[in-house]
Amino acid sequence: MARILITSAIPYINGIKHLGNLVGSQLPADLFARFNRAMGHEVMFICATDEHGTPAELAAAKAGQPVAEYCAEMHKVQAELAKGFRLSFDHFGRSSSQRNHVLTQHFAGKLADNGLIREVSEKMIFSIDDNRFLPDRYIEGTCPNCGYDSARGDQCDNCTKQLDPTDLINPHSTISGSTNLEVRETKHLYLMQRALKDKLEAWIDSKTDWPILTTSIAKKWLNDGDGLQDRGITRDLHWGIPVMKGDQPWPGMEGKVFYVWFDAPIEYIAGTAEWADANGKADADWERWWRTDKGAHDVTYYQFMGKDNVPFHTLSFPATILGSGEPWKLVDYLKSFNYLNYDGGQFSTSRGRGVFMDQALSILPSDYWRWWLLSHAPESSDSEFTWENFQASVNKDLADVLGNLVSRVTKFCVSKFGAEVPAGGAFSEQEHRLIEELGTRITDYAACMQAMEVRKASAELRAIWVIGNEYLQAAAPWTVVKTDPERAQAMIRLSLNLIRVYAILSAPFIPDAAATMMAAIDSDDWTWPTDVAAAMTALPAGHAFTVPENLFRKITDEERADWQARFAGVRT
Ligand code: MF3
Ligand code: ZN
Repeated sequence: MARILITSAIPYINGIKHLGNLVGSQLPADLFARFNRAMGHEVMFICATDEHGTPAELAAAKAGQPVAEYCAEMHKVQAELAKGFRLSFDHFGRSSSQRNHVLTQHFAGKLADNGLIREVSEKMIFSIDDNRFLPDRYIEGTCPNCGYDSARGDQCDNCTKQLDPTDLINPHSTISGSTNLEVRETKHLYLMQRALKDKLEAWIDSKTDWPILTTSIAKKWLNDGDGLQDRGITRDLHWGIPVMKGDQPWPGMEGKVFYVWFDAPIEYIAGTAEWADANGKADADWERWWRTDKGAHDVTYYQFMGKDNVPFHTLSFPATILGSGEPWKLVDYLKSFNYLNYDGGQFSTSRGRGVFMDQALSILPSDYWRWWLLSHAPESSDSEFTWENFQASVNKDLADVLGNLVSRVTKFCVSKFGAEVPAGGAFSEQEHRLIEELGTRITDYAACMQAMEVRKASAELRAIWVIGNEYLQAAAPWTVVKTDPERAQAMIRLSLNLIRVYAILSAPFIPDAAATMMAAIDSDDWTWPTDVAAAMTALPAGHAFTVPENLFRKITDEERADWQARFAGVRT
């Protein structure tokens, strides 16, 4: 049994996430967590809301709420939606937690002790009309790197380049739109990433098994232009973690907070501590996941995120960890994703274009979305959601292939032999061939899941469903029963066992349907079918079952057209 630590990039607090956000981090992380639990491993799966920084302040201002209150409410909303999508976090924390305050201040103190923080008196953009500094998202302008005209002060969404507000061409305040800006002096802390360059480079070079998308982004930031930059880690904002050196005040930094990208990844650790607090555990219980001197030496740590997050996870956060000089766990494998587009364009939070998590659940249960999203995960390139494709996937894969098999087998058995696993006949060549093919396919499926090849894994699972259908089609128990009912009973005995095996294999993708299948078959043995022959005879003759309700319904053309029109972009 291995110990597996999994974190998903923590979603910003500012509003409900769209399906593109979901498939780029939380959902594949959940798939991996569920698979590893099914394999019998000890899993710790952590996510949280990312509550600091300008996005939170701006969203609260727009909602007309104090920012702390806004964050508390939105955290609840996001936690509910995560439940709705069956995201099986061990804990869904908050980056504004007390635990994160303490840990963030602790890391800053250690970095300072190790000579890795310098104070910089710098010129920042001050908005005269707004009477405040304009860090990060409070300012927008043209990207000096690619020319995109809505680049933010901290990063260009178009070319992903990390920026400083003073880099922007033709900047304006996003609060008032004012261009009445001036440059003023203010003191900030910088993390001396440059000094850690060799260590970071050696660490990244040691990760020979990372996806190309991950390492290419990391290397680009390490070596591009003038190379790795020291990063400002403080901001002139009210909402955030006060700048302190451990538990000591930091002279000259009064009234300032840490930059959101400094404290957010530390929440992975703090979130695990919050898990301990929420479950009446001791510090040792979370430290054994994070401190290599306290038990985490045998933990394998996986991170999931969209590609725009990669620089922060391959450079900035590791710089914090390495620079602390303390034995904290570094990520072992970083799985990153491209973008999911929406129906010929981009998902847009501001324009309400695309399907958001709450809307998705209001029209169909989570399994439908999980299946489509995971089977179209933007791994090797960007991918696109279209309603036609969604309808086709749901109707074919879920309703015709899987759902149909389950209902056909259970209904047929009840009508011909009763609601118990039939005893007659013996497996023949046909059944043994299916069992053998399943064995190979399940090995391939598990290998894809282990490798986090999400799309390939979904294709393997679909293929496993398909061979069951092909078997049934060829065996045709509904015909055989007329001449050789014993034979037909053996076929159905196998098929009922197949339903249980399908429940186990499908659960990471479609947990609700899997639970329904398992309940119908009246079992709760979720043991992974490594020994397929044994698994295919696990339900003995005489074992009672019920016919489940239809697992999946089909999406009609009218619904498809209606939804397509509804989500084209009007939400404000
Ligand atoms: N909130 C960020 C985003 O949605 C992700 C933060 S990940 C963390 O892009 F590492 F900072 F936690
Ligand atoms: Zn750019």
